[in-house]
Amino acid sequence: MLVDIHNHILPGLDDGPESLKEALLLAENAVANGITHVIATPHHLSEKYRNSALEVKEAVAGFYRELSQRNIHLKILPGQEIHLSANILEELEKDPFTLANSGKYLLIELPNSYIPANTLDVIYKIQLKGYTPIIVHPERNKILRKNKQLLYEYVCKGVLIQITASSLLGLNGRSFRKYTKELIKHNLVHFISSDAHHYIKRPFQLTKAFESIKRDFSESHVNYYCENANHIVYGTEIQPLLPIGFKNYYYL
Ligand SMILES: [Fe+2]
Repeated sequence: MLVDIHNHILPGLDDGPESLKEALLLAENAVANGITHVIATPHHLSEKYRNSALEVKEAVAGFYRELSQRNIHLKILPGQEIHLSANILEELEKDPFTLANSGKYLLIELPNSYIPANTLDVIYKIQLKGYTPIIVHPERNKILRKNKQLLYEYVCKGVLIQITASSLLGLNGRSFRKYTKELIKHNLVHFISSDAHHYIKRPFQLTKAFESIKRDFSESHVNYYCENANHIVYGTEIQPLLPIGFKNYYYL
């Protein structure tokens, strides 16, 4: 079992595939990466996109039928990538929906250029509701790139972190590769996933990412990331490695 917990594989919902044909090609790319389960996570509460629980579930059922008819063996599970918007708590109250119906895990996206002032407070309130927030691609956030110790503090407060396979592979620039490797070294990464959007421009890349982790770190790191993703499908508790802080950190 190999699970990808963050991608935009469903056609026509967001900036992922524009057509069913493109989505099927992306699904074939997932299978070629050895992926067996994909948690589809269209954007939600972002400036451009809203995808309610019902809409995502219907889209997943429809897409899974298309895959089955073509004998593409890929299990699709529902999810969302939720932007940390001002009304996130209200929305979670109205339309509660977790990754793979785990009843527990949520993918949370921060803005790229700043961190909203009340972020820790909102995260705490999300946790009080019984959810475990997973912050996606911290490498894309300008503040977290400068201040790794802040990310360490989030992890100490029970936040989980997902980095993107292409960042680790250096496909988004050398600085992203260096940063994501540094996070792995400090046990601040819990999931590696694709954030796949397109079968050519932004494909799955998981095989290559795991090969690079095996080479640069160890096979047990690969197993750790794979097992953590399985926990989301089963709705079970992950056992995070003890995070390691940074000695010479920089506070804003
Ligand atoms: Fe995404």
